[in-house]
Amino acid sequence: MATPGAVPFDYDSNPDRYRMGSKLSNDHSRINLYARVAARLTGADLVLDVGCAEGVLCEAMPDKRLIGLDMSMPFLRNHPAPRIQANATAIPFRDNTFDGVTAVNMLYHLTDPRPALKEAKRVLKPGGVMIAATIARTDSPEFAGYRTRPPTTFDAEEAPEIVRDVFGEVEVDAWDAPLLTLPTKASIRDYLLVRRVSREAADKAAQELDVPLSVTKRGAMANRSKACLT
Ligand SMILES: C[S@@+](CC[C@H](N)C(=O)[O-])C[C@H]1O[C@@H](n2cnc3c(N)ncnc32)[C@H](O)[C@@H]1O
Repeated sequence: MATPGAVPFDYDSNPDRYRMGSKLSNDHSRINLYARVAARLTGADLVLDVGCAEGVLCEAMPDKRLIGLDMSMPFLRNHPAPRIQANATAIPFRDNTFDGVTAVNMLYHLTDPRPALKEAKRVLKPGGVMIAATIARTDSPEFAGYRTRPPTTFDAEEAPEIVRDVFGEVEVDAWDAPLLTLPTKASIRDYLLVRRVSREAADKAAQELDVPLSVTKRGAMANRSKACLT
């Protein structure tokens, strides 16, 4: 396997790429990752969502006190208050503040996710819950002929081990199923553009693949559960 690399950060210059991806998931996915995360946080009074973007998790838990943290101002401006601009590696809160800390599809932006996980652990109250969700390297295998996905620093295949390095123990909730259906050629093209495939390759895939196209989604959520947090 090639050396894992951090996924480049383009949210300030191109926030619409992320927005298009969110819309595609929203419109065509049969898995609601955010509802799944929210279900793990039922007992949490105060939650910090690290890499919150525009508040997709916040929407899934309207009855919770949630603070959004993100580096990207174009996103943070649209996140409901309270929200804070900060780096996941230097969380500007005191030790033992939160009942839950989440990092959904964001740790792969860090060269080494461990310092951010240590920060999450620091601001969690004893007994709090950490949830780190991410995508598998082999996600969306239907597009294997059109895209190569280099290994990232926080793929679902290694994520539980990495969280374990910091938290000592984890529970894993993984998925691997045809959870998304792309109904049109345009949605196939957009799905690939969101994943930084060239316009040429995205158009080629849209031309060659039949619709509706069922897409296999693979990923995992590593949870440090209340019961075992030290
Ligand atoms: C792929 S988006 C995921 C957003 C949201 N959690 C979701 O699941 O849709 C990654 C987010 O992490 C943020 N981010 C990336 N690196 C960060 C860092 N070091 N500190 C804080 N936020 C970061 C980005 O600005 C972006 O909003």
